Amino acid sequence: MKNIVASNLKMNLLSINEREAYLKRLGALLAGKKFTDTEIVLCAPFVHLEGFKKWKNKKVKRGAQNMFFEDKGSFTGEISPVMLKNFDCEYVILGHSERRKYIQESNQDVNLKVISALKNGIKPILCVGEDADQKRDGTDIVVEQLQDCLNGVSKGKIENVIICYEPVWAISSNNPDHLPTTNEVMSARLLIKKFLVAEYGAKITEKVKIIYGGSVAPDNAGTICVDSGMDGALVGKESLTPSSLVKIVEIIDGKPKT
Ligand code: PGA
Repeated sequence: MKNIVASNLKMNLLSINEREAYLKRLGALLAGKKFTDTEIVLCAPFVHLEGFKKWKNKKVKRGAQNMFFEDKGSFTGEISPVMLKNFDCEYVILGHSERRKYIQESNQDVNLKVISALKNGIKPILCVGEDADQKRDGTDIVVEQLQDCLNGVSKGKIENVIICYEPVWAISSNNPDHLPTTNEVMSARLLIKKFLVAEYGAKITEKVKIIYGGSVAPDNAGTICVDSGMDGALVGKESLTPSSLVKIVEIIDGKPKT
């Protein structure tokens, strides 16, 4: 199974010029590099999807940061999964904590989107993770999120979902104390695996990628993403610096094979 490094570019790259400079730099850094075990995915803001599609870099796959659950119609301001498909998106981030916080997205909303993405042949990168209060109180939010967000996802479809464990308290942190330890990430991975095995069986679970997100950087990708046994990373801030993103990919691609 290949690893995946997905960049979450969030609400950045504010102009066409900025986007083009970013893609040019990333393209130059990727030229001549070969990553045999890792897929790179750029999840762009919607307005840049056409520009990313035109970029045509074969080493990089495209993704979006959200979508609506209906295919078409009177849904002002929303973006259809069919549109994403037509703009070459193979992936979509769903259930990100920033959308849960600022747009009040519920597990039920996320579930509708997961089902719709899968129906349209787009792989959801489903984000789950506890916030600081839930961590302190020991609330088991991850299993609840998985249960609700994956409701109705069949055994035949689950391998197309990438589960991203993102402890909310570790997102965009400049403080090394606000990073999980390798063991904490390993425990979260085990918890997710246990849930998947109970729901889908051990054989199918082997095929489901589980990745880590939250302040991933070149200097911690080894301990947080590789040593913990994760299958890759969702990278926010550091993916805005192409050289950092490429370094993270190199670290994850070079991880010992199991
Ligand atoms: P970060 O963002 O790497 O800046 O913490 C990750 C994310 O929110 O997906």
